[in-house]
Amino acid sequence: MNDKQRVAEHAVQHVKPGMIVGLGTGSTTNFFIEALARRQNEEGLQFKVVSSSVVSANKAKQLGLSLLGIEHIDGLDLYVDGADEVSPDLTLLKGRGYDLVREKLLAKAADQFLVLIDASKKVDRIGEKFPIPLEVSPFAWRLVQRSVAAIGGHGSLRQTANQDGLVVTSHGSLVLDVAFASNPDGKTLNEQLNAIPGIVEHGIFSGLTRAVFCGQDGQVEEQWA
Ligand code: A5P
Repeated sequence: MNDKQRVAEHAVQHVKPGMIVGLGTGSTTNFFIEALARRQNEEGLQFKVVSSSVVSANKAKQLGLSLLGIEHIDGLDLYVDGADEVSPDLTLLKGRGYDLVREKLLAKAADQFLVLIDASKKVDRIGEKFPIPLEVSPFAWRLVQRSVAAIGGHGSLRQTANQDGLVVTSHGSLVLDVAFASNPDGKTLNEQLNAIPGIVEHGIFSGLTRAVFCGQDGQVEEQWA
């Protein structure tokens, strides 16, 4: 069992019967979905889930979890997702998988947001390893690029993996990846990006995390906010 799988198995014990559980996206969340389906089968329960992406929705359905449409819920008990970076104050960077809008919506709406990582995701400062992804309205991208330049960021549009076009999110947005020569702290950056018109959503998740579970060397370390 690798660290991502171990942390997913650990997190699934926090799910209680009757809860509505939000599913994030990524390889760690995939292990969590599998663990949740296994618990459902072994314990004769029926978990209700809501998904942040089509990929996770398909996986959940295939494994027999009861999928609710995001538009049909008015809250959820738990949201479980991975992250690309986690700083010591539990600010996150997300969005390498670019489905930010649903991810942040569910993270904010949930009573508890649990983040599952391995040690490679820990950083001292948000933006240390990856640029900050911004989902931008296609017509707005140049003006957003100019606005982020004014706060010290250099933005470039994300290309598809085989470099034959631009990435388009499930909401029809483009993704502007922004690198900062010297990053301000995640909280400040979150406020600055929130104030720029034309950004549909961005990858800094500040003040949303309830706990981070980190798999490392065969153990799981819990850090609660
Ligand atoms: C989705 O936008 C991302 O933030 C993912 O949550 C993140 O990339 C997950 O990483 P893992 O595949 O390592 O779980």
